[in-house]
Amino acid sequence: MFKDLSSLLEHDCQLVIKDTVTSTNDEAFSQALCSPQSAFSAAHPLVVVSTEQAAGRGRLGRFWESPPGGVYLSVLFEPDFAQEGGWGEGENSSAKGRGDAIFSLSPLVALAVYDALLTFAAEELYIKWPNDIISARGKLAGVLIELKQKIYVVIGVGVNVNHPDAGTSLGATYLVDETAREPSCEEVAAAVLKSLFSSYDTWRTQGCSFAPFVAAYREHMALVGKQVCVRAADGTELASGVVEGIDERARLLLAGKDGPTPVTAGEVTLANKLPPS
Ligand code: BTN
Repeated sequence: MFKDLSSLLEHDCQLVIKDTVTSTNDEAFSQALCSPQSAFSAAHPLVVVSTEQAAGRGRLGRFWESPPGGVYLSVLFEPDFAQEGGWGEGENSSAKGRGDAIFSLSPLVALAVYDALLTFAAEELYIKWPNDIISARGKLAGVLIELKQKIYVVIGVGVNVNHPDAGTSLGATYLVDETAREPSCEEVAAAVLKSLFSSYDTWRTQGCSFAPFVAAYREHMALVGKQVCVRAADGTELASGVVEGIDERARLLLAGKDGPTPVTAGEVTLANKLPPS
């Protein structure tokens, strides 16, 4: 399926093409851990692309349906600050590292995927915080970012391109329904990777900050001005309010009596909609 992909890529990377894997994120991690001497970096990332996934993962522990006809890819970077504490433990960590940076990576990648898919789409697309690409018909693409050993970061991207043989998935839309032409999965993968490498480089060279991307993200953001609920994976309501935008730390901003209230994680739904089961 992806036999000509390498000729479409401009960025220097190590490309692994598979017919099937459990998850491209897992495959990327195991390749990195099996060859720890390999110098994966921003300049030489490892890319895994597969025609299908047997156990594709989504955010919040969900399953990501991955039949042939979609794009399932992961990019593994070892950041240049790996020796200075790597990605750290997370936002509230006092450990050395870039705990904060990882939070800004997810919406940044969504913006990169959005830009790539827009080159194919005839219909309007939006980004639903933090990292879903949607149209009026449903969800077109998703992003799952995972860390290993505080050093390796894997950026996993799934794009619904063609209708699967088994029929359409609930809540999903497909690039073929959003465009005037039928792009190949190879073209889509190449466009996503090009945009991703370029955004990652900008982000890295500008101190791993989301600040340079706030305005562009806000411009394409879904649900601005709408009353929403933010829920945890188990459906518990974490916050609610009217969406105002996103801040420089990539937090969702909800309007509050005393000014915008930042939200760091969760699933956003329109306030009158039931949470996904
Ligand atoms: C989401 O919206 O919940 C995120 C979906 C991410 C799916 C991609 S497909 C490639 C990579 N491998 C996985 O197992 N998941 C990501």
